[in-house]
Amino acid sequence: MSLSSPVSIGPVAVIGGTGAEGSGLAMRWVAAGLEVIIGSRSAEKAQRRAAELLEALGARARGRLRGLPNAEAAAAAGEVVVVTVPYKAHRPILEAIREAVQGKIVVDCTVPLHPPQVTRVHVPAGGSAAQEAQALLGPGARVVAAFQNVAAHKLQALDDDVGCDVLVCGDDPAAREHVIALAEAAGMRAWHAGPLQNAVAVEGLTPILIGINKRYHTKGAGIRITNVAPEE
Ligand SMILES: NC(=O)c1ccc[n+]([C@@H]2O[C@H](COP(=O)([O-])OP(=O)(O)OC[C@H]3O[C@@H](n4cnc5c(N)ncnc54)[C@H](OP(=O)(O)O)[C@@H]3O)[C@@H](O)[C@H]2O)c1
Repeated sequence: MSLSSPVSIGPVAVIGGTGAEGSGLAMRWVAAGLEVIIGSRSAEKAQRRAAELLEALGARARGRLRGLPNAEAAAAAGEVVVVTVPYKAHRPILEAIREAVQGKIVVDCTVPLHPPQVTRVHVPAGGSAAQEAQALLGPGARVVAAFQNVAAHKLQALDDDVGCDVLVCGDDPAAREHVIALAEAAGMRAWHAGPLQNAVAVEGLTPILIGINKRYHTKGAGIRITNVAPEE
């Protein structure tokens, strides 16, 4: 894993980083040399998870990692705040960090799943979870949708290739480029996938992948873009 592209200046906050997806992203970024802040509703839980992840990383922890309550983590972030929470927690968590993320890029990984029907595509009232985030946070935050199709356990298995691509949607091309660089730092190939309104299609792929996992008795189904050469 190497930092071949320009990546975030300052720490990356991962809101809900105590969970499976956020922990996986945090591990990969810390292993790549980035500074990461785990956010949680609980300061104690955030600190405990950061300590656990550092222990799991061992000598691979090239960057720094600490834990803070969600709003403090978002405020302490440099340019990028990543949101990895279940859809039912999406609105209250975004409201809690709204002030702190003004002027920053907010990377929304949320999939609008409706348990127990996790293999069915659900289109939220706001068009997509990512568009709902943009509406809630206002124009002062640049929302970028990414990582919704990447299985957490693939991220956490640092010795293995993640084995799938990342589609990156957002209305600001520079913000998308930044998130593509972060995906590459975490060892994934990522693609510009158009404006934020396209996030509905990317979010909708995840219940299909969950259904494929169930049907074919696997865990890590992902997507690949084929027959396109990445730009140098
Ligand atoms: N897991 C995957 O393989 C995967 C793959 C692709 C996309 N995603 C998406 O990524 C997001 C996070 O997934 P995950 O599996 O990491 O979720 P998770 O482990 O269930 O939850 C992540 C964190 O969100 C916070 N949280 C959980 N329930 C909450 C609630 N009711 N209210 C407020 N905060 C709550 C918790 O943090 P604190 O208790 O520390 O606050 C929790 O550690 C979801 O939208 C999911 O669809 C997941």
